[in-house]
Amino acid sequence: MSMTVNLVPLSAVPTRYTVFGAGSVGTVLAGLLADGGVDVRLAGRGAVSDLVLEGNGETVRTRVPVVNETEGTILLCVHETDVAELCAGWAGRTVVTLCNGVTAEKAAAQWCDVIGGVWRFTCELLAPGHARFTRRGRVIVQRTALPLADDLRRAGLDVGESDDIGADVRLKLCLNLASTPNALIRPADHATSAFGEIKARLLEEARDVLAAAGLSVDPGAGDRTLDEEIELHRQTGGGSRCRIGMVHNDTWRTLSRCRKPKERYHTAVARWGAAPQNRAMGALLDRATGPECYTAREVLAALDEALIQP
Ligand SMILES: NC(=O)c1ccc[n+]([C@@H]2O[C@H](COP(=O)([O-])OP(=O)(O)OC[C@H]3O[C@@H](n4cnc5c(N)ncnc54)[C@H](OP(=O)(O)O)[C@@H]3O)[C@@H](O)[C@H]2O)c1
Repeated sequence: MSMTVNLVPLSAVPTRYTVFGAGSVGTVLAGLLADGGVDVRLAGRGAVSDLVLEGNGETVRTRVPVVNETEGTILLCVHETDVAELCAGWAGRTVVTLCNGVTAEKAAAQWCDVIGGVWRFTCELLAPGHARFTRRGRVIVQRTALPLADDLRRAGLDVGESDDIGADVRLKLCLNLASTPNALIRPADHATSAFGEIKARLLEEARDVLAAAGLSVDPGAGDRTLDEEIELHRQTGGGSRCRIGMVHNDTWRTLSRCRKPKERYHTAVARWGAAPQNRAMGALLDRATGPECYTAREVLAALDEALIQP
């Protein structure tokens, strides 16, 4: 018996994803998805097709078509401050927000169907199309009927699915508070107890402010809780540094280019309630002359002073 198969012409198969934002995260994400055989395009300033990604003991070389207009689900890899303007041009589209900070989802939801996401490992763009990443690390996405989590797994990522992505996003914001001391304090002090104490205090203050505001930071996808992270910082200094392997964090990189980070994590915490130590850390960041410009003792003294000021 003969069987008729209706073949869909390749050009009629809708593109699955466009990664928008060809910076550190977007380049790594687009490259790893393409390397995993996922149908993906790349868009944004500086986007190039030939990608070279250096990870933990691996180099991935791959090609991703570059497009001017996004197609399929948009994987948004820009800073939260850029989200609203971009999403205004994508009304009715599905956007996965992979931005740090707590404003991206709400900004995107004015225009788009939003799937919240949290990117939890460090990437650094060295040149257009050439990026480093620490390892194929953790990404958390809101649980959805779309095959997003499986596609991210095909990219070799450690994917968590959350039923309360807002809590995961807030937890990530709290964890990001440690990126400022990691970038601002000279590496020679990173093994000191003062360094761990600074990070623990910033996170504790955020935890208390969020709890008072009735906002959960309970991880929805089985990650370490904020209390466990605080304990880790206090015991070990947190283990994270301005440079993880060969990869610098965003705050370090931005300061090294004589710019200030776009995202204001310490200010965001202070918006939820009284957070004098985070305010003080934010002020040190504003006054920073570059990365690694303070000692741990100077920063701890500034936090102490913030606590006793009326
Ligand atoms: N890098 C990390 O390790 C890391 C880790 C966790 C989370 N995150 C978060 O992930 C997000 C992306 O970070 P990132 O490090 O990838 O930032 P990034 O390197 O600055 O990349 C953002 C890219 O988007 C482009 N872009 C922004 N607005 C655009 C527009 N309107 N049109 C075209 N292109 C536009 C930027 O171009 P221009 O440079 O020309 O502006 C840049 O290439 C941020 O929210 C960050 O906090 C980053």
